[in-house]
Parts: sequence; structure tokens; C-alpha cells
Amino acid sequence: MAGVVLVGVQWGDEGKGKITDLLASQFDYVVRFQGGNNAGHTVIYKGTKLQLHLVPSGIMYPQVIPAIGNGCVIDPEVLIKEIEMLNAQDISTDRLLISTNAHLIMPYHKDLDGASERRLGTNEIGTTRRGIGPAYRDKAARLGLRMQDLLDRSIFREKVTAALVETNDVLEKIYGLDPYSVDDITAEFMEYAKILEPHIIELSPVLNDALDSGKNVFFEGAQGTLLDIDHGTYPFVTSSNPTAGGACVGTGVGPTKVARVLGISKAYITRVGSGPFPTELFDADGDTFIDVGHEYGTTTGRKRRAGWYDAVITKYAAQINGLTDLAITKLDVLSAFPTIKICVAYEDARGVRHTTVPGHQSAFHHAKPIYEEMKGWNVDITGARTFEELPQEAQDYIARLEELAGVPVSIIAVGPDREQTIIRRSLI
Ligand code: GDP
Ligand code: IMO
Ligand code: MG
Repeated sequence: MAGVVLVGVQWGDEGKGKITDLLASQFDYVVRFQGGNNAGHTVIYKGTKLQLHLVPSGIMYPQVIPAIGNGCVIDPEVLIKEIEMLNAQDISTDRLLISTNAHLIMPYHKDLDGASERRLGTNEIGTTRRGIGPAYRDKAARLGLRMQDLLDRSIFREKVTAALVETNDVLEKIYGLDPYSVDDITAEFMEYAKILEPHIIELSPVLNDALDSGKNVFFEGAQGTLLDIDHGTYPFVTSSNPTAGGACVGTGVGPTKVARVLGISKAYITRVGSGPFPTELFDADGDTFIDVGHEYGTTTGRKRRAGWYDAVITKYAAQINGLTDLAITKLDVLSAFPTIKICVAYEDARGVRHTTVPGHQSAFHHAKPIYEEMKGWNVDITGARTFEELPQEAQDYIARLEELAGVPVSIIAVGPDREQTIIRRSLI
């Protein structure tokens, strides 16, 4: 039995889709455990770039069973479109399993996400406006609708009626938006139910039985450690737990079944949306990261904010997630720089040096990066397939990241394609 959890180390978009697709063939199940279609995971399939928002990135392999866990929030309209997109590529989605307990993103959640962001104005979180926060809020308030509610029209109607009593008031009286009708929503969602019903299943026993019988399960995180609602840069976070513990809560599998935790980190760092970002660049180097790394959001198309690798963040992520392995992606993008910087500590407003992520929000906002410089390699490394094929400077860079994180770098990605990868240590 082997459960392997994959988590983002930074603020998302670290290349989780690519690494999941790379490793998926060794696993029997690939499971998403939190988040919704705020995620955008890129995989290259037969030369075509596919962007997955809800379906796990293991879907390309016919022998792998993809699953969406109870910790996720699902917009059924988006999921159905994604299924259609995959089928159009001749990728079968018949095997897809969806937990009965995953929550539904309702149309009013999307309205509320947009309205709340508009109200915050310059203080906006910069959400993806996909209804994620409001859906998780209703889950916590016990007003949410779940996948299992799609299976019974009268229960669904009853629950929508209860949810709309309060929600319609909020839409109309607070935000001046149109209210929803129970009949319209029920009619719309019963159409989705017809398509999704064959996939809805009690997932936790399936995964536990699989692990108990010696099968391998891969838990594909979305977002990243610093977007975690408990451990991230609150309030500039998402509304779920992308950290490793979330894999257990979000699938109903105990922590004793997790053998390895793989953290994915870019060889530099990016962020979409608002919030603190100590190594953010506003100069020509920042532009180089955007241009060479094609740093535009997969879900919203927004230009990402970019900066040098922050080793303080990786060390924090190693602790919060109990990382056993690291994958460093986009190392090829650093080929553009003659000198490479690594943030090894922060200096606070009083000039005091910190080697850990400050616990206090405003201290993190004011953290100034302290850099160490390394010589770049300035040659194309996209063809390297072994560690030894990398230029000495690139090997030294990886060795330094390992040392600073205290975690072995088991995988290095040198390009977006599946084969543009160096595997130094196997995961199972
Ligand atoms: P995710 O959300 O963590 O799955 O990451 P995204 O898919 O949103 O963003 C990562 C982007 O980097 C995608 O466009 C990938 O195709 C691309 N990518 C992944 N690994 C590498 C790499 O090693 N080198 C380069 N140049 N691109 C990469
Ligand atoms: P993947 O899985 C990068 C960010 C948003 C915003 C904050 C809250 O592709 O790495 P939300 O819509 O979740 O309420 O927005 O979180 N965010 C992401 N940033 N990658 C993602 O997913 C993200 N999902 C959410 O930009 O700052
Ligand atoms: Mg992404």
C-alpha cells in the first residue's frame, strides 16, 4: 500500500499538473482532495496543451482511476464541459469517480464571489471569481448542497429552498442583485444530475480498500501551501486546505496510509492575486520571468507576479506538509539569467533578520528579502535527462536548494513536456 500526496509549495501554478501526469502511470488512483475550478493544471497530451480544472491530471492513462474527493467543490457545468473537452480528445472519462460528499458550487456562489470582490475594491483578494469562497462558506454554515443531493430531486429542492431563504436576501438587499428561483435552479441541476449520476460514489471506502489491498493512490493537491486557509497568507488565500493534511480530510483516508509527501516548487516563484510577496520583482528580471516562463494564469489568464526563489517559504512548506521529496520545475527558465538569486532570510522593518516565515501578517507584508547569489549557466538545458547532464552551475543550484530546504530534490523539470524531466529518486 502506498499513498503519495502531492502539494504545491508556493502560491500555486508550480507545475503540479505536469508532475502528476508524469507520475500517474505508476498509480491505480489519482484523486483531487480540495479546491475546485479555481485550479488550472496544465498537461501536454500528444503535443496538445490541455488545461484541467477539476478532473485529476491522471486522466490520460486508461489504467488509472481518476477521482474527485469530498474536500472539493464542484461546479457541475464546468465539470461537464471538461468531460466533453476530454472526450473530444478521445480521452475516456467513464472511470471518473466523484464523492457523494463533495459540495456543489451553485450559480449564486459565483455571483457572491464577484460581488464581494467588487465591494472590497482596492482591498480585493483577487479571487478567480469561480464561487469557491462562497461555496466553502455555505459548507461550513451547513447550508451547502452536495453531489448526493443531485440523486434525489425532492431532497435537492428542499435544500435549495432552505439555502435561498437567506441567500436571496443577501443578493437583493446587500448587493442589489437578482434573486434565484428554486424551480429554475432545480430544473438546471437535474439536467446535470442525468450526466453526472453514474460517477457519484461513496469514495472513501473505495480508496481505503484499494490501499489495504496494496494498490497505489496519488493525491493531487491544487493551489499551494501559502494559499492554505490555515497556514497561508490569510486573508489572501483560498478557502480550503491545499496542505498535506487536507489530503486525508478531503478523501476520508487516514494519515497512516500516506507514505510520501512530494512538494512541487518552481525554481523561482510566482503568485496570482493580491497579498504579500517578499521576493516580487518589478524590474527587467521580473519581465524575463513572465516572458520566458510564460507566466499567465491558466484559469483566468491574468499576468502572474514573479520573483526569485524563496528558500524561507520552501522550508516552511517542508515543515507544514512533512515533505519527504521536492520536485523543482521550470529550471530551464533560469537559463536566461547570468546571475541567480536565492532568498535565504528576511529582514523586518527594524532590521532584524528572520529565517522563518513571520507568524504575524504585517511582519510578512514588510519582510525584505536577503539574497545569496549564484552563478548562472546561460545554456539551454531542456534536453537534459540526467542530473549529470546539467551544467555544473545548475547542479550546484539544485544542491543549494536541497540544503536550504533539508529535503531531497527527487524530480527536476526542464520543460513543459512529460519527458523533459530528470527523475533522481522514485516515489514508490
Ligand atoms: P499547476 O497549476 O501547478 O498545475 O501549474 P500550471 O499548469 O498552472 O502552470 C505551470 C505552467 O508551467 C504550465 O504552462 C506548464 O506547461 C509549464 N511547465 C511545467 N513544468 C515546466 C518546466 O519545467 N519548464 C517549463 N518551461 N514549463 C513548465
Ligand atoms: P492551481 O491549482 C494560483 C488564488 C487566486 C486568489 C486566491 C483566492 O492552478 O495552482 P479563490 O478563487 O480560490 O477564492 O482565490 O487564490 N488561486 C490560485 N493561484 N493557482 C491556483 O490554482 C489558484 N487557485 C486560487 O488567484 O489569489
Ligand atoms: Mg495552475
